[in-house]
Amino acid sequence: VKPSAIAPALLDWYDRHARTLPWRVASSDLAKGIRPDPYRVWLSEIMLQQTTVAAVKGYFEKFVTTWPTVGDLAAATDDSVMAAWAGLGYYSRARNLLAAARQVNEAGGFPADAAGLKALPGVGDYTSAAIAAIAFDEPVAVVDGNVERVASRLAAIEVPVKTAKKQIQTVVSCITPAVRPGDFAQAMMDLGATICTPKRPACALCPVNAYCVAFKEGPDPTTLPVKLP
Ligand code: ADE
Repeated sequence: VKPSAIAPALLDWYDRHARTLPWRVASSDLAKGIRPDPYRVWLSEIMLQQTTVAAVKGYFEKFVTTWPTVGDLAAATDDSVMAAWAGLGYYSRARNLLAAARQVNEAGGFPADAAGLKALPGVGDYTSAAIAAIAFDEPVAVVDGNVERVASRLAAIEVPVKTAKKQIQTVVSCITPAVRPGDFAQAMMDLGATICTPKRPACALCPVNAYCVAFKEGPDPTTLPVKLP
């Protein structure tokens, strides 16, 4: 892996191919200094924890229309939030969501780093890193299942993924850039969702295939990450 070359190539691809999603700010707007709203980033990341992008879109729109700010959500009744969440599943997320909204509202705003964010109910390692990178430009490694797959292939990690979590974290840290870490994180997610897919990855179209050890030297990327039965 050539760490320093990966981010520029991936960000260039992201500028051309990023999925348009309701919680994202277009890179052309980011370039003008427009920042993502931490409330929208947090809400989307909680919804995306155990639910697909396709299923989350409509719920996200409904929530931000009904409660445009964290203060609005903090003032909502438990019942109205549970009713709006109905169908998304994993209902502890909705209870934590409301508790966190009230905490953030009392504090006068979101904590602006990963460590502070992790203290919120329902926010763990992945979600705190994602919000810190996307909303606050903190250059932290953001590792979800898609990113695990991409990193396992880039670095050709052949040990079972269950035992390689630290190594994967290190790989992602090494390639995460100081500039645009949030875009980089979302580019890794988009790459995993659209190119570096589990079964039939489109390696010929991959913007970082030149830096991918599995693609260049093997083992066959489809065999990674190694999952134990
Ligand atoms: N999955 C989790 N967070 C995401 C994001 N910000 N964009 C796309 N997919 C995601």
